[in-house]
Amino acid sequence: MSENKRIFLSSPHMSDEGYEMEYIKLAFDTNWIAPLGQNVDGFEKELCEYTGAKYAAALSAGTAAIHLALKAAGVKAGDRVFCPTLTFSATVNPVTYENAIPVFIDCDEKTWNMSPEMLEKAFEKYPDTKFVIVAHLYGLCADMDEIMRICREHNAVLIEDAAESLGTTYKGKMTGTFGDYGIFSFNGNKIITTSGGGALVCNIADDAKAEERIKKARFWATQSRDPARHYQHSEIGYNYRMSNVVAGIGRGQLKVLDKRVAQKKAIYKKYSEAFADIKDIHMMPVADFCDSNCWLSCLTLSGDKVQPLDILLSLEKENIEARPIWKPLHLQPVFAGCDYIGENNVAENIFNSGVCLPSDTKMTNEEIGKVIAVIKNLWK
Ligand SMILES: Cc1ncc(COP(=O)(O)O)c(C=O)c1O
Repeated sequence: MSENKRIFLSSPHMSDEGYEMEYIKLAFDTNWIAPLGQNVDGFEKELCEYTGAKYAAALSAGTAAIHLALKAAGVKAGDRVFCPTLTFSATVNPVTYENAIPVFIDCDEKTWNMSPEMLEKAFEKYPDTKFVIVAHLYGLCADMDEIMRICREHNAVLIEDAAESLGTTYKGKMTGTFGDYGIFSFNGNKIITTSGGGALVCNIADDAKAEERIKKARFWATQSRDPARHYQHSEIGYNYRMSNVVAGIGRGQLKVLDKRVAQKKAIYKKYSEAFADIKDIHMMPVADFCDSNCWLSCLTLSGDKVQPLDILLSLEKENIEARPIWKPLHLQPVFAGCDYIGENNVAENIFNSGVCLPSDTKMTNEEIGKVIAVIKNLWK
């Protein structure tokens, strides 16, 4: 291992077999570079087969998928949307595209995801709310039975942000397939990547309705072109579709997704075992009901000896990439003034005490050993 070779947090990892290039070649050979074509159709079908989702629309980004999920759910200007506070801003930005109002909900310690108890409290405060977004952070899953029970009780539409949790199951079922709508991201650092991309899936019980919603999302994603010979538009549209070349990368990546999940889990296990003897280190909690894809291995610290910044700086000195936990959205300047429902500042505590460790599936055992050694050295 060369001294200066950077160790990444989570970088793109194409298949050894070259599957992605085969599908890209197919696009080139048939001159279906753009706009849509066989790879987009194939990717949507294969994503549904993998996850168990009913219908999918391949899009340019996970953020675009959240935006179209909100539109399909019927979110309008002035509507309140309950959102997790501990997540990446992309989970919530599209709420503001529609001029709707996010209300941030704290997470719980058991899952690091939306607290069902705080969600109940939010409905007590704002009983007429009709929309909830739940995220599955770092590949951990929210307590979906409870979240869905509460949404059903309040007749609220549930959107599941599974950008980070493709391959994670909750009680044996894939995340992203519980909510009325689910979204995935294929951004460069995700467990599989298309260089950039996302997908919207619809899981509502009525098959015909689910198909119709996805068709509508594809319509919005291609500039809302009415079925007329001339260019006619009755609705505002977007340029949100995935290209046929990019979808080819996705088809190849899906073939190695199980392998990547196994590799990410092995990384989490190595860290857990290595840090078991340091009482100040607490690996992110994987609940009994969650079979996590371990997208990022994260930890929190207790005690005064070592702070998260000490870990980040020590790793950076060795050319190793790590990052803080997402800063809760209710603390972000851009969302100042939005309401927050929480009692024990769980998200804030995780943010203040947490670190995301390198979780790159291309890391060698030697490199993981180096990360561990740098961190353990801080307790010497
Ligand atoms: C939790 C979460 N939601 C949404 C997104 C947005 O996905 P994308 O970058 O594909 O737009 C990401 C990742 O970037 C994410 O981590």
